[in-house]
Order: sequence, then C-alpha cells, then structure tokens
Amino acid sequence: MKTAVYPGSFDPITNGHLDIIKRSAKIFDHVIVAVLVNPDKKGFFNIEERVFLIEKVINRIENVSVESFSGLLTDFMKKKNAQVIVKGLRAVSDFEYEFQMDLMNKKLCPKAETVFMMTSAKNSFLSSSAVRQVAMFNGCIKDLVPDQIITDVMKKARKYCKKS
Ligand code: PNS
Repeated sequence: MKTAVYPGSFDPITNGHLDIIKRSAKIFDHVIVAVLVNPDKKGFFNIEERVFLIEKVINRIENVSVESFSGLLTDFMKKKNAQVIVKGLRAVSDFEYEFQMDLMNKKLCPKAETVFMMTSAKNSFLSSSAVRQVAMFNGCIKDLVPDQIITDVMKKARKYCKKS
C-alpha cells in the first residue's frame, strides 16, 4: 500500500491544491492532506477551520483524508507509515525552496521520496496568500478556491477586515 502525504499550510485550500490532491489520488492508494500547525504563525483560518474546509472539498474522493500535524513532516510520515511526500510546483521561484526542503527531508528520513507535480496552467498564478488578499478587498474568488468554500472565505475576510 503506497501512502502519500501532501503537506502544507492550506490557509485556505485553493483550486491549485485541490488539483494536486485529485491527481495524486489517482497515483497513490491513500493520500493524507497534512495541515501544518505552526505555533509561530497566526493564520487567517485556524487549524480546525482549515481542516474543516479541506474535508468539505475532498468528501467525494474515497482515498483522501485530512489531518493536522506539528513538528517534523518526516516524523508524521513515520507515524502514518507513509513513503511519499507530494508537492506542487508552480514556477521556477518555487524550486529553490522545495529543493532545500527535499534535501532536508531526505537527510531526516532517507526512505521518504518527494514527488513533484507541476501545477496545471490555469492554477499557476494561484496561492493562498493571493486568495486572502483578493477576498479581503472584496474581489471575486470564483475559480480560485473550490465553490463549496467561497462563502466561508468571504465571510472570514469580512470578519478579518473588521478586526484589523
Ligand atoms: O504551504 P507551505 O506553508 O509552503 O508548507 C510548508 C510545509 C508545511 C510543507 C513545511 O513547512 C513543512 O514540511 N514543515 C514541517 C517542519 C519540517 O518537517 N521541517 C523540515 C523540512 S525543512
């Protein structure tokens, strides 16, 4: 059984993430979407909300599940008996950071293999931070995030703007 972990902040999940999830679900027996708990970073959505939004959009994909994790990704993988890390690559600018992480993860767990998937062209400009910005300025986020979570993101953006 090949289990892959797709790690990230997912604040919030975008159509780019969902595309990578769907494509990896066709390759691996089980894909775990792993949401990083980062105590140093106050997010837009909290961890429970991010997991909830991901659950909303993956609910029809049988071999995909979602969990949060803290600490090292390689430790989480060992716990889950996962062999593969899935990463999406958008542009050359992603490469250096991802290459560094790949080497570090290999050092920590030589058995773990990272598989990179190129983003689909239609999502190549997408990032969670761009989505947050568009939403906070009340722009249209259709086609940027899955339809099921548009209202959640816009609601959060309105609350966020009121607070700050
Ligand atoms: O969506 P992001 O924020 O680019 O995801 C980054 C993530 C979660 C993949 C990365 O920060 C990570 O794997 N963090 C866990 C800590 C870890 O294992 N660090 C060692 C590799 S540098």
